[in-house]
Amino acid sequence: MERYILSDKEGVLVKKILFVASEAVPFIKTGGLADVVGALPKCFDKKEYDVRVIIPKYLCMKEEYKNQLQYVTHFYMDIGYRREYVGIMQMEYEGIQFYFIDNEYYFSGYQPYGEIRFDIEKFAFFSKAALSVLPVIGFRPDLIHCHDWQTGLVPVYLNDSFQQGEFYRGIKTVMTIHNLKFQGTWDIKTVRQITGLPAHFFTPDKMEAFKDANLLKGGLVYADAITTVSNTYAEEIKTEFYGEHLEGLMQARSNDLRGIVNGIDYDEYNPQTDKFIVKNYNAKNFRKEKVKNKLALQRELGLEENPKAMMIGVVSRLTDQKGFDLVNYVMDELCQDSIQLVVLGTGEERYENMFRHFAWKYQGKVSANIFYDNGLSHRIYAASDAFLMPSLFEPCGLSQLMSLRYGTLPIVRETGGLKDTVEPYNEFENTGTGFSFTNYNAHEMLGIIRYAEHIYYDKKREWNKLVDRAMARDFSWANSAKQYEEMYDWLIGK
Ligand code: GLC
Repeated sequence: MERYILSDKEGVLVKKILFVASEAVPFIKTGGLADVVGALPKCFDKKEYDVRVIIPKYLCMKEEYKNQLQYVTHFYMDIGYRREYVGIMQMEYEGIQFYFIDNEYYFSGYQPYGEIRFDIEKFAFFSKAALSVLPVIGFRPDLIHCHDWQTGLVPVYLNDSFQQGEFYRGIKTVMTIHNLKFQGTWDIKTVRQITGLPAHFFTPDKMEAFKDANLLKGGLVYADAITTVSNTYAEEIKTEFYGEHLEGLMQARSNDLRGIVNGIDYDEYNPQTDKFIVKNYNAKNFRKEKVKNKLALQRELGLEENPKAMMIGVVSRLTDQKGFDLVNYVMDELCQDSIQLVVLGTGEERYENMFRHFAWKYQGKVSANIFYDNGLSHRIYAASDAFLMPSLFEPCGLSQLMSLRYGTLPIVRETGGLKDTVEPYNEFENTGTGFSFTNYNAHEMLGIIRYAEHIYYDKKREWNKLVDRAMARDFSWANSAKQYEEMYDWLIGK
């Protein structure tokens, strides 16, 4: 193990870990993946792990950070029949070294992702470039941790041409699934041209799936270990319903597949110190103070100003995954109740319009904010009494963790990470941190929302004890980072 650097003071072996991902907070974010890639590297024991991150340098990155990037160097890389510019930029952020791959042809869109054919080419380029820059920046990781389909080709390339160089031999890989639904598939002929990978990779035991080439599958086949972001989801993806046609592979690799639940950044999400909210509060004084955030938000969004009205929050990508067809189905019924609903997020047009419609129909009761605003999301977590997340599937889910932290009780469907992190209220045993329902059924959801309303309006003391328990839960990264460390140690030691 001579390749470890001995840290001078304590003589501990420093393991070098590289994260490769398509997004990371604070630079660029479209979903929870960015939160994880931004927060997790900070949580490893610095004495033992040197964790660095590579992401693309998108033109649509936040301006304030783009201006701070330092140019390192550039070179040209062969991929398929092409020869592409690879620029390297870098920046240290909160103690973590970030590298950015620059190529204006690929990364100048208004958003990180667009048309899938081009995205596949974009992330094939990115995956190969991420490996190619390593000798140039002088960082030889012991392990590369890849995230989602965009980086699925990293383990594949590592098994191909990069094997010829001594530098790369023996590097271990982990593939984390944040969402199995997105796999990066396209016809084999095109993907062969794009990637320059030889034909033998495109067989059903490797990158082929149902006649197409599948980038995520490549990563899942070649990675030394696979993780996903909760235990329940790790089990679910071995079944047909959740397996997105890869359940066979998940079963086959079940010995190398484990769930490690996500955490959230407890400094960033802290009702005691949060700069975005009107009134700070904590587990001791929420009974008096939290409601002030509700009143302020009602004013801000033009809702009826009533401290007693039960406010339900939704902060989400507005996609099928999140269960909004259930909401659509029973919204008129729900709005007969004395509740308020505050929505924040963007996504599929039909859900954007659906919430706009109900905000118009139930003015003063429903507020639809069809955009993304980080500050407003914090104010919704702080102001709401409950948080609705009826997902069809949910690998982990982060907003329910943020809600728990703010004493806002999650109402969730029992799937994936929601099942693992929200304990349903049991009124006989005085346990639980939220409310949940089992079947993907609109009236089952409405039933549980109404049960929550009943506790909120008629048993306020019980409700507040639920909040006590919710705020006492610990979903910071510490525990999960330990599990990743153990896995890294085991893989590197193999
Ligand atoms: C994806 C999943 C979500 C998970 C997040 C981070 O966005 O849909 O459940 O929390 O990735 O892992």
